[in-house]
Amino acid sequence: MALRNEWPVIAIDGPSASGKGTVAERVAAALGFHFLDSGALYRLATLAALRQGLDLSDTTALAAAARDMDVAFRDGRTSLDGEDVTEALRTEAVSAATSRVAASPAVREALLARQRRFRQAPGLVADGRDMGSTVFPDALLKVFLTADVAVRAGRRHKQLMEKGMCAKMSDVVEELTQRDARDSNRPVAPLRHYPDAIFLDTTALSVDQAVERVLSWYRERAP
Ligand code: C5P
Repeated sequence: MALRNEWPVIAIDGPSASGKGTVAERVAAALGFHFLDSGALYRLATLAALRQGLDLSDTTALAAAARDMDVAFRDGRTSLDGEDVTEALRTEAVSAATSRVAASPAVREALLARQRRFRQAPGLVADGRDMGSTVFPDALLKVFLTADVAVRAGRRHKQLMEKGMCAKMSDVVEELTQRDARDSNRPVAPLRHYPDAIFLDTTALSVDQAVERVLSWYRERAP
């Protein structure tokens, strides 16, 4: 059942490694709003399924795992059924499996109400692929945030190196391209720039500049 309320939502959607998570978190902090990292919920559902040894094509079992998982976000850490899984969620294996699991309409339906519960006073910044199109269609501001694939791959490569994980640049480009193709081509809630979202290309922008653009669009619309 749709949980509608009046608290404003800023929906920030876009492809992998576009920097939308960082921008969304900074916008939420600037406004004192709640923050929803919807990708983390899809990653958590995938990790729960992998840990239960589920067949990733059994969408009924996947949806049950997504519905039943006990998750908590606290002080920048994420836990699943009481265990800290912050690092485990971000491996390349989980990223790739997640975009397969996320293609299931049953899984998406199972996570819908959980995502909508993040909409609380005084407002929410929601980061994902379908925040503006499906989860919060009445969002006050919708942004489609992207950057050139070479820039996105460079950002992801840097993050991996900082975590001490070796990765070839060509593999990172390949992984991002495949994941974006899966996210864009699925029939349900695909990654897409819809006309009601403002297009923000961050290829040549700093994080500060991107945050400032989103805040200024929000201020123009804020009641
Ligand atoms: O944003 P992040 O890279 O953590 O998302 C991981 C995966 O979760 C995406 O590649 C996508 O398949 C899925 N996802 C989704 N819908 C969302 C957020 C993430 O399908 N709203």
